[in-house]
Amino acid sequence: MRMTVIGCGYLGAVHAAAMASIGHEVTGIDVDEAKIRSLAAGKAPFFEPKLVELLTAGLDSGTLTFTTDIAAAAEADVHFIAVGTPQLAGEHAADLQYLDSAIAALIPHLRSGAIVAGKSTVPVGTAAQLAERIAPTGATLVWNPEFLREGWAVHDTLTPDRIVVGVRDGDEHAADALRDVYTSAVASGTPFLVTDLATAELVKGAANAFLATKISFINAMAEIAETAEADVALLADALGYDSRIGRRYLGSGIGFGGGCLPKDIRAFAARAEELGRGESVGFLREVDAINLRRRDRAVQLVVDALDGHVFARRIAVLGAAFKPFRDDIRDSPALDVAVRLRGLGADVVVTDPAALANAAAVHPQLAYEPLRDEALRDADAVVIVTEWDEYRRELDPVHAGSLVARRIMIDGRNCLDAETWRSAGWNYRGMGRR
Ligand code: UGA
Repeated sequence: MRMTVIGCGYLGAVHAAAMASIGHEVTGIDVDEAKIRSLAAGKAPFFEPKLVELLTAGLDSGTLTFTTDIAAAAEADVHFIAVGTPQLAGEHAADLQYLDSAIAALIPHLRSGAIVAGKSTVPVGTAAQLAERIAPTGATLVWNPEFLREGWAVHDTLTPDRIVVGVRDGDEHAADALRDVYTSAVASGTPFLVTDLATAELVKGAANAFLATKISFINAMAEIAETAEADVALLADALGYDSRIGRRYLGSGIGFGGGCLPKDIRAFAARAEELGRGESVGFLREVDAINLRRRDRAVQLVVDALDGHVFARRIAVLGAAFKPFRDDIRDSPALDVAVRLRGLGADVVVTDPAALANAAAVHPQLAYEPLRDEALRDADAVVIVTEWDEYRRELDPVHAGSLVARRIMIDGRNCLDAETWRSAGWNYRGMGRR
């Protein structure tokens, strides 16, 4: 099929390359010239496994092109809208300006019978308004939310857990076009759910709200465990064996960050308030608050371990990315902990295998060291805030102990074996662990 992907950020660039890889003729469109130049040269503006290979294959075969010219949309059968919907400055609601301008630019080029498939994360009710806006062109709007995880984006796009397509009453035929788009995934048994527009929008917000709630649930248990002298990691293991609960997203520590979960739960709650149903998701405020408290707690653990004396103490912060295998530092709890420690006067040095350039651009006041062992050298305390393999699996406590000034390890991701570190002479402190 001939398709456009409008908005070539994280979601759009991956979607465009993935769709070309399964045989579609795809044009990626974005207003950002530098981004389009980079994608057209086969370079991904961010790190994502397998993306460069798909980009190169699509560009070489001619099935994938990139342009800033929206007029290129005129020939396509399906238009995916993948622009960002960030948090509004100073508010919790989503900023829909990029979505508005993408639709406004697309409308003059829409032909009757075309399908516009929204993928951006939007407040419920947005799709119905967009459907009204494009109706005079004879094109049809459907809502097709995206559930990809950074680091698994290509995998999640090509083999998703489910495909959801929201349509207006009477537009059920439009879902067939999406069935054709995703024909290989559908053929291999991926559930394909056709819903109304509002339900499709809600599935996305609700999925992220659920995941965030699950993480904050276990972190709330960590708070109780801290006082009750229990161990939250063992608790999570025991809970996880209950197949109704499951162990995934029960990873305790400094909590969730990134470009999606924090802003999405806030936008979800803000929209519920607009709808007069704020109380229905009032718990999301608590989910957010628990999440942010864990960053305070990590800082407090460092302060306590240093007997209250952090000023001018050298602290090695292992990690800057919001999760491992990423160079993304958007709302990274790891960097937040580093910034707070520096605010207390500590001599903080941050290391990370991939995210240092991004971190330095946003927080130039922090000191950065690309080599893990150099970061550890002479440290008075070490804090793990992103569970990269370099720290979780490959860091030997005896070797690390030979580098630091004091053997104090704060495990902000509960990713180390406490006994191994203690028996190597470390004062090990996890979060919510005995
Ligand atoms: C998240 C969702 O998982 C995707 O399904 C969704 O499509 C995406 O947002 C989005 O809306 O675009 P992502 O932001 O890539 O994906 O990251 P996750 O892997 O979900 O991790 C989010 C944060 O939660 C990270 O900071 C991670 O360290 C933290 N986390 C995750 C925990 O603290 N504990 C866990 O057990 C799991």
